[in-house]
Amino acid sequence: MNVYEAVHSRRSVRNFLGRPVPAAVLTRVLSAALRAPSGGNLQPWEIYLLSGSRLEDLKSRVRRRIAAGDVGDPLPVRPYPAALPAIYAQRLAEMGERRYGAAGIAREDKDGRARIRARNWECFGAPAALFCYLGERMLPPQWMDAGIFLQSVMLLLRVEGLDSCAQIAWAEYHRTVREVVNPPASPTPRARSAVRRAAGAGTPLSGDREATPTLAEGVLDTSRRGVPVGQKLGAVVANSSTNTWL
Ligand SMILES: Cc1cc2nc3c(=O)[nH]c(=O)nc-3n(C[C@H](O)[C@H](O)[C@H](O)COP(=O)(O)O)c2cc1C
Repeated sequence: MNVYEAVHSRRSVRNFLGRPVPAAVLTRVLSAALRAPSGGNLQPWEIYLLSGSRLEDLKSRVRRRIAAGDVGDPLPVRPYPAALPAIYAQRLAEMGERRYGAAGIAREDKDGRARIRARNWECFGAPAALFCYLGERMLPPQWMDAGIFLQSVMLLLRVEGLDSCAQIAWAEYHRTVREVVNPPASPTPRARSAVRRAAGAGTPLSGDREATPTLAEGVLDTSRRGVPVGQKLGAVVANSSTNTWL
């Protein structure tokens, strides 16, 4: 598959077969995505891979919150500008109509829409999720870096015959994500490289572009948390810290 084919065939998939994917494939994808450019070569993305029991733990915590009527955490950023210019408001509305219409949910069916949205917090059935954080001090240019990185991941997944869905929806339960992912409050580069060396689930899998072997260690360490090496991982890309919304 060439880059044009990857770009054209990528689409947001919201129903995964759950077909297994070797951990080595994800390692290959993430290692290559680390080649993504970034302003000043900051490589500011902090990524965390959850799968197996840890992902199940996250999903069930959010499931419990939703069942208790909890509508989520205060959002760190607005999903869209307050007064969305008409052209964008129209695209957003059309997207919603297509999305819910495809599921046979009428516009006024609030419960139906909520049920469809809640599939977000099941990762649409995918058994692995990649969470991307940026340090609190990072600015919009670094958000752009993260987007470039994530698009690289999504295109590389296509080359591997896999699909994905970016998900800002996880930001709605970001406190619970934080409990499970357990990222450092505001990692410094030094702290980052320390945790990289210690890499386990809950520590970043990101690394310097020149240091991709660390990434492989991270993936292996993820497996030490209950996913046997070689056990297959699915692929959904969860992008919980940028500023776009479904
Ligand atoms: C940053 C970002 C966040 C997104 N968040 C969600 C989300 O939370 N849930 C979802 O179902 N789709 C989400 N999407 C997918 C968009 O709805 C989708 O990309 C858009 O409708 C275009 O469709 P396509 O990806 O199939 O080309 C997100 C996309 C991006 C880029």
